Amino acid sequence: MGGIIIKTKEQIDGIRESCHLAARTLDFAAQFVQAGVDTEFIDNKIEEFILENHAIPATKGYNGFPKSSCISPNEIVCHGIPSPNMVLKDGDILNIDVTTILNGYYGDTSRMYTVGEITPLADQLIRVAQHCLHLGIRQVKPDNYFGNIGFVIGRYANANRFSVVYEFCGHGVGLDFHEEPQVDHTSRRNRGHKMKPGMIFTIEPMINEGRATTSIDRMDGWTARTIDRKLSAQFEHTVLVTQTGCEVLTDIHQEFPVT
Ligand code: MF3
Ligand code: CO
Ligand code: CO
Repeated sequence: MGGIIIKTKEQIDGIRESCHLAARTLDFAAQFVQAGVDTEFIDNKIEEFILENHAIPATKGYNGFPKSSCISPNEIVCHGIPSPNMVLKDGDILNIDVTTILNGYYGDTSRMYTVGEITPLADQLIRVAQHCLHLGIRQVKPDNYFGNIGFVIGRYANANRFSVVYEFCGHGVGLDFHEEPQVDHTSRRNRGHKMKPGMIFTIEPMINEGRATTSIDRMDGWTARTIDRKLSAQFEHTVLVTQTGCEVLTDIHQEFPVT
C-alpha cells in the first residue's frame, strides 16, 4: 500500500529547488541546439551543468539508461538516447527531457527545440502539444479528478487531428523519480483519483502527427518511435497541488500564475 504521497512543506521547498534547476538546465541547453551538433555533445553539456550546480542527473544509470538527459528528435516520442551518431540538421524538432536530483529531491521537465526553419505542420504540432500541457495544468486543483487532465488534453489534440500517446504517462515525482499516481494524457471525464493539496506530479503529453502507437527500438531497448515514423512533440512540467489551485514548480519564467 503506497498511495499518493502528500509532501510536507520542507519536502515541497526541496523539490521546488530541484525543479528550478531542471528548468534552468533546459534554458542552458538551448545555446547548443544547432545544425551539425550531435545529441551526445548536448548531453555532455547538460551533465556538466547539473554537476556544477551540486545535483545529479536522475536518468544516468536509471534502469540502465546511459545518459544525463533524454533527447528525442522528430519521430522519437521519448527516451531518445543522446548519441554522437545523432547529428541535428535544419528542420529538425526535438524534445530535451531533464530530471535533476538536488539534495535528494527530484525535478522533471522537458520542452521542444527547433533547428533552423521547420515545416508549418511541425510548428503546429509543437504549439498543440504545448497547449495540451497548459490545458492539463489548468485542471490542477484540490478535489478535481486526475482523469480530467487527460480528458481536456485528448479533446484538444483530437480536435486538431493529432493523436495522444497512451503508452507513456505522467507520474508522481519528488522523493523518487516515478511515484504514484500514473497521470494519463487521454482519459474519460471524472475518472481516477482526486487531487489533494501537497501532491506533486508531472504532466507530459506526447502528441503525434499520425497514429498514437509507439514501438521501442529492439537494439537499445529505450528509444520510443511513432509506429508510422511521423512526428511527435512533448512538453513536461512538474506541478504541485496547492490549497486552492496549483503551482508549476518547473515554471522559472512565470508563465503560470500560482493559484
Ligand atoms: N524524464 C522522463 C520522464 O519524464 C523519464 C526518463 S527515464 C529514462 O518521466 F530512463 F529514460 F531516462
Ligand atoms: Co516525467
Ligand atoms: Co521527464
